[in-house]
Amino acid sequence: MFYELAASTWGAEEQAAIQRVLASGMVTMGSEVKRFEAQFAEYFGVPHAVMTNSGSSANLIGVAALCYKRERPLQRGDEVLVPPISWVTTYTPLQQYGLTLRFVDVERDSLNIDVDRLEAALTPRTRAVAAISILGNPARLDEVRAFADRHGLYFYEDNCESMDAELAGRKTGTFGDFGTFSFFFSHHISTIEGGMLVTRDPELAELARCIRAHGWTRDLPQDSTLFERSTDAFYEAYRFILPGYNVRPMELSGAVGQEQLKKLPGMTAARRKNWHYFKERFAGDDRFITQREHGKSSSFSFTIILNPAHGIDRNHVFAALREADIGFRMITGGNFLRHDAIRHFDHSCHGGMGNADLAHDAGFFVGNHPFDLTPQIDRLHDVLDRACSRRNSP
Ligand SMILES: Cc1ncc(COP(=O)(O)O)c(C=O)c1O
Repeated sequence: MFYELAASTWGAEEQAAIQRVLASGMVTMGSEVKRFEAQFAEYFGVPHAVMTNSGSSANLIGVAALCYKRERPLQRGDEVLVPPISWVTTYTPLQQYGLTLRFVDVERDSLNIDVDRLEAALTPRTRAVAAISILGNPARLDEVRAFADRHGLYFYEDNCESMDAELAGRKTGTFGDFGTFSFFFSHHISTIEGGMLVTRDPELAELARCIRAHGWTRDLPQDSTLFERSTDAFYEAYRFILPGYNVRPMELSGAVGQEQLKKLPGMTAARRKNWHYFKERFAGDDRFITQREHGKSSSFSFTIILNPAHGIDRNHVFAALREADIGFRMITGGNFLRHDAIRHFDHSCHGGMGNADLAHDAGFFVGNHPFDLTPQIDRLHDVLDRACSRRNSP
């Protein structure tokens, strides 16, 4: 394909890491995962990193951990403020733990939660707020942090689309009580499948480690605060203290993650170079609403919303993109309220969701990759320019 939605970030180093782990015979979670967790924590400047088998699983154990905190746990019926644009597995753990979602629209240009609407969205049942930096572009995370602190709320930061983005010199994913990352193919780094939870809260970190693996105590530190260790080693080897899951990563993924992390700064720089070129090509053309950068984006992809003022037919544009061999897709999951799954969620809306609807009905994204995309962006621009010219619109 001339311009793919997703591309591999692997080279010989990742292949060698896989071979090394296979040859060792130790393929389930062990020292490679531990090393990757330590390197990841250091890179992102946080004390605790817990690797999982996906970003979705990181969200799951993070929300679960908030429900098992010793003091002020989240409880069934508590309300969480969420934006309508994110991936389905941002929301599902909330539903699975009996929490109520209260939707607050996104900003039309950044596509991230509109912080100006948060205060008015509060109800007596609000206990947490979720912010998701969409497709590499930091949400107003410092303001969400301040809002959460002001009202005694937990801050759930799903950073699965925005690894290595920064706001005020701080990495996204580190503003929340916990932050999550995805290493799925086509993300900023890939371990095939994989994810990470980071936190500064030692209790949350221990809870996440326990819930990640069966709810047992085996992965907890000797001086764990979650339980009292007995002298009976036989019992302690299989001791269960919480209703957990098995969402452990493989050792192979831990080894590949270390190689990918070394390449991350260079890959982010290449993505940002493409981002600047994309923004330059589309600058000043009000037919296309492109994402407004807030802070420093790690540019997962390029979003385009067809400005409704111009009455452009999106299907006509899609046909032109197909013809030009350019991949495209929905912006993340579109407006989650427009999916059938919402029927299973206890939820309410604070005001209208006009901006999320616009992204859903008039938006799409094309890929960004950690290598030069000048020819691809040039073709994209030419195709869109032609397809959206007054003369060519049906
Ligand atoms: C915002 C967001 N959260 C969570 C996930 C889930 O990550 P994973 O595919 O690793 O489960 C994704 C996936 O892309 C995502 O975009």
